[in-house]
Amino acid sequence: MKTPAKRPEVGTTGHQWDGIEELNNPLPRWWLWTLYATIIWGVGYTIAYPAWPMLTGATQGVIGWSARGDVAADIARFDAANAGIKARLVAADLTQIDSQQDLSAFAQNAGAAIFRTNCATCHGAGAAGVVGKGYPNLLDDDWLWGGDIDAILTTIRHGIRNAQDPDARYSQMPAFGVDGILEGPQIAAAVEHVLAISGGDHDAALAAEGAVVFAENCVSCHGAAGKGDRELGAPNLTDAIWLYGGSREALTYTIVNARFGVMPPWAGRLSEDELRAVAVYVHSRGGGE
Ligand code: HEC
Ligand code: HEC
Repeated sequence: MKTPAKRPEVGTTGHQWDGIEELNNPLPRWWLWTLYATIIWGVGYTIAYPAWPMLTGATQGVIGWSARGDVAADIARFDAANAGIKARLVAADLTQIDSQQDLSAFAQNAGAAIFRTNCATCHGAGAAGVVGKGYPNLLDDDWLWGGDIDAILTTIRHGIRNAQDPDARYSQMPAFGVDGILEGPQIAAAVEHVLAISGGDHDAALAAEGAVVFAENCVSCHGAAGKGDRELGAPNLTDAIWLYGGSREALTYTIVNARFGVMPPWAGRLSEDELRAVAVYVHSRGGGE
């Protein structure tokens, strides 16, 4: 094997493997200076900005920048920009809001965002609008407590059957079975009557008996024709839109045990302009009244 000629100008490191020697070429200048520059930059950066983790948090950095502060400044900027229109929303007569296009558009947008964050967990988002039993679809035109804008705002502000707000909407259907108000056969007959008035398959003879039970026990809340009463949040039983299900089993369960749908109050958690925005949104989605 032939050893290559030495290049005396750079010398060797003295390392040698199998006759191959390592030349001691210096690092290129530009490379070295770039390395030094990045080191200086890195040190400067960690002094200026939050960087090193310590026991109770990270070093804060001498220029006082923080990601949180940035977000807070952004929020403050938007709040300031929207202060005027929010004040208008708080002062507006909501029944006339459609006559003010920009205000209505602002309320719709803000309301949609508030709805997604606070309401969709129970009421569902989008067109489906239903998450589970007992949570009414707010996007349809069927209302328990009233679908005009003021009724909707009251419902949202105070909630339903909750103990937190003394002005909450309140009513309670008796548990006809559990409390021994009706016998089993009477309940079965009442179920058949409810199936009849809602257009379901039913036993006509039993339903006729049920009509009597209904007239004696149910009309005070659900009305003679079963159309419901919004003062009491008593659902319309004839429209086949069910909160808790319209099967024979579900109806029997409802009448034996009663239900007690609770919604929290939103006053206090949402600001006045937010309450109004989400009411406008729900009103517009629900086909309003
Ligand atoms: C924890 C679950 C829950 C959350 C969260 C919730 N709701 Fe409700 N909401 C209910 C229940 C349950 C009912 C039906 C109560 C009943 O049976 O009367 C209801 C009823 C309503 C009604 C009355 C519907 C009608 O037909 O009259 C409106 C309006 C309403 N909610 C709006 C809202 C808005 C707006 C939000 C968000 C700010 C919201 N809800 C958040 C559970 C909830
Ligand atoms: C004191 C008033 C009151 C009386 C009396 C009453 N109800 Fe109700 N009923 C309600 C209320 C309020 C609801 C809604 C319950 C909820 O959301 O918690 C309801 C719900 C129902 C539902 C469920 C509807 C659905 O959409 O799922 C059925 C069915 C029903 N009632 C049938 C009856 C029958 C049958 C009687 C008589 C045997 C009766 N109710 C008597 C107030 C009443």
